[in-house]
Amino acid sequence: MSRADRRGMCVSGASDKAVDRFEEALADLLRGTGDPLAGIAAAIADSPAFAMAHALEAYVLLSGLDAGDAGRAGEIVETLRAAACTDREKLHAAAIAAYAAGDLDDAAERLEDVLIEHPRDVLALRQAHLLDLCRGDARSLRDRVARFRYAWAPGLAGYHAVLAMHALGLEECGDLAQAEDLGHEALALEPRDGWAHHAVAHVLEAAGRHEEGIAWTRDAEAARAEDSVLAVHNWWHGALHHLALDQVSEAVAIFDERIRTGGTGGRADLVDASALLWRLALRGVDLGQRWSALAEAWAPSVCDGWYAHSDAHAMMAFVGAGRWDLADQILATMRRRTERGGSNRAMTRDVGLPLARALYAFGRRDHTAAVALLRTLRPLAPRLGGSHVQRDVIDLTLLEAARRDGQMGLLRALAHERLAAKPETALARRYLDAAAGARYAA
Ligand SMILES: [Fe+2]
Repeated sequence: MSRADRRGMCVSGASDKAVDRFEEALADLLRGTGDPLAGIAAAIADSPAFAMAHALEAYVLLSGLDAGDAGRAGEIVETLRAAACTDREKLHAAAIAAYAAGDLDDAAERLEDVLIEHPRDVLALRQAHLLDLCRGDARSLRDRVARFRYAWAPGLAGYHAVLAMHALGLEECGDLAQAEDLGHEALALEPRDGWAHHAVAHVLEAAGRHEEGIAWTRDAEAARAEDSVLAVHNWWHGALHHLALDQVSEAVAIFDERIRTGGTGGRADLVDASALLWRLALRGVDLGQRWSALAEAWAPSVCDGWYAHSDAHAMMAFVGAGRWDLADQILATMRRRTERGGSNRAMTRDVGLPLARALYAFGRRDHTAAVALLRTLRPLAPRLGGSHVQRDVIDLTLLEAARRDGQMGLLRALAHERLAAKPETALARRYLDAAAGARYAA
């Protein structure tokens, strides 16, 4: 007997009680709070043939962008195929199979097929949105939500998440005012929506409103949710606001108190840790033992080659710690990755591997090579995935490599570019002064 979920879509193999558990788990996933896997386990224990509960479990695993979890998600595909009765459930099985095999582009297309027929499938929209984010596809981050928002209205379960997704997409496309409005509208509906809070944090960074950004990442209700999957990332955004204001010791304190010790220890938290330490190192901060602990945390994934964006951040830790053994290993992993299929092949070939080589060269003080590699990959940088502010580490590294290599003409040009984009920060002016021959003090 089939039932309907809270957005009116048929679900196969579920009791009423199992649908309730599924909805609770989905609500956790959409807010980024709690433990969705616990709710899913309860739903499956009650109704083992509940296809969408199996799909939800697979998506939760895949969202971590971790090779081991992707393998576990792949093992769910056969169970899901056997349980899937509706066309929608079968399309989800196809999307998960592609996703688990590393074909992120095909997975996004299958999810788009779901949404064309079922625009209220908020799980499909969220997963496609995350794929757009991890592939650096800003237009789809905005326009995929725009294509399907027509079917939504206040009062539908999950509406806040649709607004939050649209807010981030608008921000990544530069429409900051509308993005901020939608982020706040989402939070008015669901104050614990960590993704809506995150979208506003992005707006404040992009707008150069750093004092507000610091308050936002410290005080908002969603930011204080310690069980949020975005907890560490929220603090990372806060640290970036401090750095924009040259409040370096505050950024280091956030690393020590919130990032090094916080979070799940999952891949996304390690990325944030690397991204912050690398920015601090570019400013000449002595990071002591912080790098070596982070390199140890990255070491188990050195042979995965699952996602170029993660691999590049692992390289930052290996270079920072002086772990050239691991740095050489991950370069070899990434080279092998360019010989296999899947979406990550092109991501690695076009951006991930050149960036990892540039970071390696920078760490070896071969700044000439680092500059050459970074200049070549910069036009293709969105293919690395992530957000604009995450990929800003490429521009920051290029500026510092140009300065250390004495390429003052290039440094002057890059500093003017940054000054135009971020006129509120002192960093661009310092680089401009350095290009003019002034003594540089980070
Ligand atoms: Fe972010």
